[in-house]
Amino acid sequence: MNKYVEEAIDLITTIEGGRSFLNWLEQTDFLSAPASTLFHNSFDGGLVEHTGNVIKILVSLTEKLNIKWSRKESPYIIGLLHDVCKINVYRRFLRNVKNEDTNQWVKVPSYKFDEDIEAGGYGHGLKSLHIATKKGLVLTEEEELCILHHMGAYNLNQMDQQTLNTASRRFPNILYVQLADQMATIEEDLAEMRKNQNNSY
Ligand SMILES: [Fe+2]
Ligand SMILES: [Fe+2]
Repeated sequence: MNKYVEEAIDLITTIEGGRSFLNWLEQTDFLSAPASTLFHNSFDGGLVEHTGNVIKILVSLTEKLNIKWSRKESPYIIGLLHDVCKINVYRRFLRNVKNEDTNQWVKVPSYKFDEDIEAGGYGHGLKSLHIATKKGLVLTEEEELCILHHMGAYNLNQMDQQTLNTASRRFPNILYVQLADQMATIEEDLAEMRKNQNNSY
């Protein structure tokens, strides 16, 4: 498994509710899920890789910029939890795609978003926070708001501007979590583009 995710899992056992959260995590598709249906890391294991990338960037930003957190484990905890809303929601299916060279339809393994209705209705950051606390984790307020607002202004249909401003004023580290998430996503997109370019030669 990704070494940053492994470290985060070790650390989470030391916080209140960590064991019950991990008992749940082990029963899920966390290790095999993609991070999206079409965009970044839309392959088996994409979610755990993205999670590791976000932790790595947050840890590195913390060291380089000397960021202070409410507890030292927070970059690992936030990184591990920020996208748990993507667990158990992507279903595999075979998509018909036309091969441009042969003009034949071929079936390509793909994912579709198919959220269990029982778990839905919370959106993105709020759903991750909801899952973490429902599974028993006791988080700091800074961790809670960093997870809730990790999409920043990309999520304003669920989170109004005033709420985001207030949360960011209370815990400015939210901005570093947004940055780490975007940096990881851009790196993953670039890696995908490079892979596609290499395959086309
Ligand atoms: Fe996210
Ligand atoms: Fe993310």
